[in-house]
Amino acid sequence: MKKLMAANWKMYKTAGEARTTAASLAALAAEALPDDREVLVFPPFTALSSVGDALRHAPGFSVGGQDVYPAAEGAFTGEISPAMLLDCGCGWVLTGHSERRHVIGETDELVGRKTAFSLTAGLKVVLCIGETIEEREAGRLAEVLERQMATGLAGVKADAVPDAIAVAYEPVWAIGTGKVAGPPEIIDAHAKVRQLLVSRFGEAGRAVRILYGGSVKPENAREIIALDNVDGVLVGGASLQADSFSRIILA
Ligand code: PGA
Repeated sequence: MKKLMAANWKMYKTAGEARTTAASLAALAAEALPDDREVLVFPPFTALSSVGDALRHAPGFSVGGQDVYPAAEGAFTGEISPAMLLDCGCGWVLTGHSERRHVIGETDELVGRKTAFSLTAGLKVVLCIGETIEEREAGRLAEVLERQMATGLAGVKADAVPDAIAVAYEPVWAIGTGKVAGPPEIIDAHAKVRQLLVSRFGEAGRAVRILYGGSVKPENAREIIALDNVDGVLVGGASLQADSFSRIILA
């Protein structure tokens, strides 16, 4: 299976800045992109079209929305529907990112509805999960992963698996902090996620990609990507510069 190398640009970059970064990324990485790598960029909504234009002719690259609302249309001020994302050239969407859960206050239940609705609408989904430092220190890692997987995948039909869904394990304490989880912690959490995928989807669960996210950098990407059950990475800070993210893509 191809490793999925994903960039989350969060609330950074105007449309023009995003276009420039995407164009340099395509120039740096597209020709050298190995067959076993796939690249996915999540720009802010306002830059989706410009990034889509910049990556249109870069094989192996695609674009996704950082969030979505689980309804076809309606009176939901400020929200974006799956059809709107598809219309901007998105193939993917992120659901349940830790900043949406912990800064914006999204519930597990809402994350589950976003995931299921997006899949039905024809988007692929990267469902993000991960524990806080308090939960880890209280010995609640397994319980948190189990709960977030069960609610996040609640309405997901078996035919979405494995291709249309990926799970990103992002320990909250490692996001944007420079504290990357160590190999034993990553191996342990990814094995738990794999187990949950297999118990939910049977054999197809073995082919669902599990990404690691949290302070991935050009310096540690190669080691992380080689670990058991690590099928890609989700990168925030180190994906904002084309040079740094292309070194991660090619790591
Ligand atoms: P970071 O963010 O790479 O800056 O830690 C990862 C993420 O939030 O997806």
